[in-house]
Amino acid sequence: MTEAATRQAPKVAKKKLQGYVGFANYPNQVHRRSVKKGFNFTLMVVGEAGIGKSTLINTLFNTRVFPDKDESTIGETRRGVEISSMSAEIQENGVRLRLTVVDTPGFGDSINNDDCWQPILENIESRFDAYLTQENRVNRSKISDNRIHALIYLIKPTGHALRAIDIEFMKRMHTKVNLIPVITKSDTLTQDELVGFKSRIIADINYHGIQIFKPQWESFEDPEVINENKDMLSKIPFAVIGSDKIIEKPDGNRVRGRLYPWGIIEVENEKHNDFIKLRKMLVCTHMEELKDVTDSILYENHRSQKLVTMGHEQDNTVFREYNPTAQMEEERSVHEARMSKMESEMTAVFQQKVQEKESKLKQSEEELYARHKEMKQVLEKQRQELEEKKKRLDSQTRPITPLDKKQKKGLFNLS
Ligand code: GTP
Repeated sequence: MTEAATRQAPKVAKKKLQGYVGFANYPNQVHRRSVKKGFNFTLMVVGEAGIGKSTLINTLFNTRVFPDKDESTIGETRRGVEISSMSAEIQENGVRLRLTVVDTPGFGDSINNDDCWQPILENIESRFDAYLTQENRVNRSKISDNRIHALIYLIKPTGHALRAIDIEFMKRMHTKVNLIPVITKSDTLTQDELVGFKSRIIADINYHGIQIFKPQWESFEDPEVINENKDMLSKIPFAVIGSDKIIEKPDGNRVRGRLYPWGIIEVENEKHNDFIKLRKMLVCTHMEELKDVTDSILYENHRSQKLVTMGHEQDNTVFREYNPTAQMEEERSVHEARMSKMESEMTAVFQQKVQEKESKLKQSEEELYARHKEMKQVLEKQRQELEEKKKRLDSQTRPITPLDKKQKKGLFNLS
């Protein structure tokens, strides 16, 4: 079959089952296998110094992913952007998650922040390249996925709109990573300020054509899930607060939050901020989608661009509509071409064999003739020798004549 024929999408007919088969259990098999293997997730967090990166990540995963800060280093100025990563294996109900958080200290901290996005972009791309190299190895059994699955970009709670650095950064990153813009320290803004701030951010994002990660719900049939996703989408960009403190409320309940003279602002209270929504999307409901988009869209784009720049040609063959008559016709002509090729190959082989036989026969005929000639010469020689011998013998054994007798008796006077 030709390449085109093998690429044809098979026609799939919908059939009704007559009874129990058991493949409905397949998701459970995948679940068991995944739980056994564990998961990995790599999250990058970008925002300027003191914006609340470490507090937010520690709050999100309810563990000290970021180590406690050395008091003497707080506020230290850095020369350019550094990239550092921290990994932690966390477990929840027997499910293991290997979480890697990539921090980017120094981002936006310089007087001149031109190109401060560059080391971050390079880091994201180098992780794609490392994955591509592993994929191209002969043994691909141990591919480690260190690609960035999501990037939380922390927006300063200015209450105005996006700053030039925010727009520039997101424009550079949106085709390389799942962007999740998040407003930090939302407790510093009033409810009204926050509403206006969010709508201006969305307007800026749309105006600049920036693609941010949005939860998808089209594929779900459950109305509850659809509503949950719609609600999640309406809160984007999430405005969150972070805290590593547990505070006791007047009613005795202990909550994670920030204590102010006027009261407590709770991290896990949906009326106070969008932290719960962010954590739900990132961890509970869309972690797999973030990984899937990274693999099937962002990495795929990077991979194909890379291969094209390396000189590989893009295969633009498209699937054709299934047409049984055309397929049979194509298969028949392919078969005929193959048969006629076989026939001409067989004829060529046969002719070659005949030629070989003929030349062998000719050679042996020549050899026989040469031997015959040689034998003839030998026999002729032998015949001549015998002839000679006979003559000699004849001359020795001839009958005694009267002359001989006279000679013997001396009757002849020879004088
Ligand atoms: P660098 O490591 O220097 O880049 O800082 P960072 O971005 O990791 O910020 P960090 O989490 O250390 O927070 C800096 C300060 O902001 C700390 O004093 C936090 O307590 C405070 N902070 C963090 N989150 C919030 C928040 O949601 N609201 C308020 N008001 N303050 C916060």
